[in-house]
Amino acid sequence: MCGIVGYVGPRVATPMLIEGLKRLEYRGYDSAGIAMSNGHGLETRKAKGKISMLEGLVNGNPIHGSVGIAHTRWATHGKPNECNAHPQVDCTNTIAVVHNGIIENFSALRKMLQMQGHTFKSETDTEVLAHLIEAAFDGKLEDAVIDALALVEGTYGIAVLSSKDPDKIVCARKGSPLLIGLGEGEYFVASDAAAILQQTRQVVYLDDGEMGVLTKDGYEVLDLDARRVSKGVSRIDWSLDEIEKGGFDHFMLKEIFEQPQTIQNTMRGRLVVEEGFSKLGGLNLTKDELKAIDQIVITACGTSWHSGLIGELYTEELARIRCEVEYASEFRYRNPIVTDTTLCVVISQSGETADTLAAMREAKRRGAKTLGLVNVVGSTIAREDDGGIYLHAGPEIGVASTKAFTSQVAALALLTLKLARLRNMSVVKGREVAEAMLALPAQIQSILDHASEVEEIAERFKDATNFLYLGRGYQFPVALEGALKLKEISYIHAEGYPAAEMKHGPIALIDSEMPVVFIAPHDAVFDKVVSNIQEVKARGGKVICITSQEEPVLEGMIDHEIRVPQTIDMLYPILTVIPLQLLAYYIAVKRGLNVDQPRNLAKSVTVE
Ligand code: G6P
Repeated sequence: MCGIVGYVGPRVATPMLIEGLKRLEYRGYDSAGIAMSNGHGLETRKAKGKISMLEGLVNGNPIHGSVGIAHTRWATHGKPNECNAHPQVDCTNTIAVVHNGIIENFSALRKMLQMQGHTFKSETDTEVLAHLIEAAFDGKLEDAVIDALALVEGTYGIAVLSSKDPDKIVCARKGSPLLIGLGEGEYFVASDAAAILQQTRQVVYLDDGEMGVLTKDGYEVLDLDARRVSKGVSRIDWSLDEIEKGGFDHFMLKEIFEQPQTIQNTMRGRLVVEEGFSKLGGLNLTKDELKAIDQIVITACGTSWHSGLIGELYTEELARIRCEVEYASEFRYRNPIVTDTTLCVVISQSGETADTLAAMREAKRRGAKTLGLVNVVGSTIAREDDGGIYLHAGPEIGVASTKAFTSQVAALALLTLKLARLRNMSVVKGREVAEAMLALPAQIQSILDHASEVEEIAERFKDATNFLYLGRGYQFPVALEGALKLKEISYIHAEGYPAAEMKHGPIALIDSEMPVVFIAPHDAVFDKVVSNIQEVKARGGKVICITSQEEPVLEGMIDHEIRVPQTIDMLYPILTVIPLQLLAYYIAVKRGLNVDQPRNLAKSVTVE
């Protein structure tokens, strides 16, 4: 979603700001802009579309200065066009604001400001901030920002410039991430570390209700009563290579191919094979607290919700703990049953998804212990949860989540091992799980080595208009995830269903044009799935089958077969999802689509 980057220091700001915006492209956006305070008032350039459009504009009509803010906008209020792009300015062009989030009472504030004589140019909620700060300005930008924010309801990560208090950036956060980057005699503000990684690794994460005041001589963090807050400095460990394509055509393909390493990183140091146990240092729960848990609620969105469905099967089948999986957006507005013996497992790649964060806060408020399965170190969920398991999958840039999913499932397996071994799981069973987990990286590699076979299937079906993905047991969430991947990047309508449930509706869609992907490894329900394959075949559907060994019973029933190595039932999702990621990827590429930045989607959804 929207991205912010800002710079104050001795250097020429524009190239760094444009570079920073490019690093934020992956988050999804539809317009971009930049504003500079350079001693001659404020200069702004904005463009609809890609950063390259803004870059072209800035090259043709340069914008000079060394104090600037820039933004990528993902439209919420008002169409994506130049006028609605940020920075938004006030009537007198003395205040420029970039904003992530939503000002919920913007309509009332706009009316109030119009009555006071302010003239609005855009349809955005953000513009009210520029006018509010203009109205409150009395010489010191941070004071005006504090006064303005006191009137605002909603969420924001903002960065503000003023030509009347030049050489300064003021930034503030409530519900939308923001960090300050520390350089040598120069300071940055960004909504995502990727934007400034090339410049510095030392960062200060702002919390809700905090603001940063940045000049080239230093920075201060204040609360919204202007009191100084002392903050620790964190170091970002990601390398630049990790946020570059490294020879792959797309980030998504790179991330699919990274999975042998990323899953290894998730498991590293955490599996105690001999004891069939897992060591998870960040849980912050004693053995007694872990034993007392009598209910698990998993809450998440999108792909993370799919891994949560697998987590539900793990905890109920292996740890024998009741488990519910909830869309975070639903959970937060229900009246869920949560007690102090409930463990709320919050799954999020970004650690910033607004609904997931709100659901976690709600669970906490109701007395549950919260445990974050998060990839982005230092993200809001990771900082606010009671305990956590970092995924260690490295930055995920492709909008369609791939490596985070397999790491989430692996982290859920590690958690289950811990909970189950403290209860009823035998050491023998625990060892079986741990040994099977250790084999996963090489098994994923062997699937990737045959990626070209999936590419051939993609060529055959790239023009299909509908797809059905079917699986049972552990493979039902994989069917949902396979269908989601295809929808997200190829724009082909796809549905995931429990294979037997297909008879109650989707079977009506099946004809000779309809590709049906069965995820049918040799697990406990394989024979049942075979009957469902027969039902599709009998209606002329084209069957693509992901399975795990040669099986005479499938002869003549399937049109295309993709083989994954054998593992224990619970770990098949980590293998069977790989060909589905590849299938979606190759189909989208063959349709000529922008795989890494699909239309309308955002990597990190920071609004409700
Ligand atoms: C967005 C992304 C999805 C992701 C979902 C949840 O919709 O496009 O890929 O699964 O958000 O994100 P999270 O960062 O919380 O896992």
